[in-house]
Amino acid sequence: MPHAPGSILERRHAAVRATLTERGLQAAIIVSLPNITWLTNFVGSSAVVVIDHERVTFITDSRYVTAVQDVQRGSGACPGFSLCVVEGSYDATLASVLASAGYTRVGYEAAHLTVARFHWLERTLANPGPVPTFVELGNGIEVARSVKDEYELATLRTAGQMLADVTRTVLGLPRAGMSERELALQIDVTIRRAGFEKPAFETIVASGPNAALPHARATDRTLGEGDLVVLDFGGVYDSYCVDLTRTVVVGPVSARTREVYEAVRRAHDAAVEATRPGASRFDIDAAARDVLAAAGMGAAFGHGTGHGLGLEVHEEPRISRRTAQVDASREAVAPGMVFTIEPGAYFPGWGGVRIEDDVLVTEFGVDVLTQVTTELIAV
Ligand code: GLY
Ligand code: MN
Ligand code: MN
Repeated sequence: MPHAPGSILERRHAAVRATLTERGLQAAIIVSLPNITWLTNFVGSSAVVVIDHERVTFITDSRYVTAVQDVQRGSGACPGFSLCVVEGSYDATLASVLASAGYTRVGYEAAHLTVARFHWLERTLANPGPVPTFVELGNGIEVARSVKDEYELATLRTAGQMLADVTRTVLGLPRAGMSERELALQIDVTIRRAGFEKPAFETIVASGPNAALPHARATDRTLGEGDLVVLDFGGVYDSYCVDLTRTVVVGPVSARTREVYEAVRRAHDAAVEATRPGASRFDIDAAARDVLAAAGMGAAFGHGTGHGLGLEVHEEPRISRRTAQVDASREAVAPGMVFTIEPGAYFPGWGGVRIEDDVLVTEFGVDVLTQVTTELIAV
């Protein structure tokens, strides 16, 4: 459970309210659960928030009332909090909150509020009316979330160290003859034993030809001599996600395996070195991509170099190939951003290599939060 102090929640509310002012809005409807957690510390599975210039109206159902009231009595209490327990349905309660406040211009998260819910809200408010003007909010909250505050950085630093410790154990687990599924299970147990709430996503163990699939799922295939084995796992700690990949080899290392592995490792190191405040996220991606291209493996690296980490395992910023349509002000990485660096090279039918770490952009450069060897390990 996150427990950001009230003063930090207040700053987050101020950022959203600045957007309301800029866009001439009186309030915004927030339905994305990670955005709700960021604004209120709530971690349950159902809630809707209406934030205006004075209050944070928090709509939830009876299952969560006691938990919410407990949070409100502690240091993580949400400033301006006004609890509204669902009557009938979430949407009926939301409609009555909007109607009784008499808002005329209201923002909403077009990326998260379904079309069905949006139309229902408009129809319901039309009777008897008036219907406020609804305005799309864009991804302003997600962009604000990409720069972590001191509370989040302390959490992510701890989580990064914990994941590095998990990795040291995990690197000793693979054995010839073990199935991918069994190894994934042992990794998940290690993650939970280390103190994580849960794995951050379904653990990937991809061996031999399966290692050529960047998002493979663990199968019953058993590890055999010569296999590359991609181990990609993460944990959720205090609601924050960390994510790491190492690739090991079973038995003797062939020249080709060594060549591919070292190229990916150099690409990883080049992207880490390119990370500093003000660097373009596209240039960080290019730093990795250029190394692989120079090694003749450009076509083997299809995905982006990294993604932001926080309340979600994939969030802003995206460390990806340059795209023409992006506003230049959204290009530079800034102190407080936490993201992965995870280049890979994948060869269908043969196998693949990925090396992934989590980095923090600092005022002066970069800190690697997951400090654990990237040397090729033969098991
Ligand atoms: N396992 C998901 C990722 O590395 O992005
Ligand atoms: Mn990963
Ligand atoms: Mn990742």
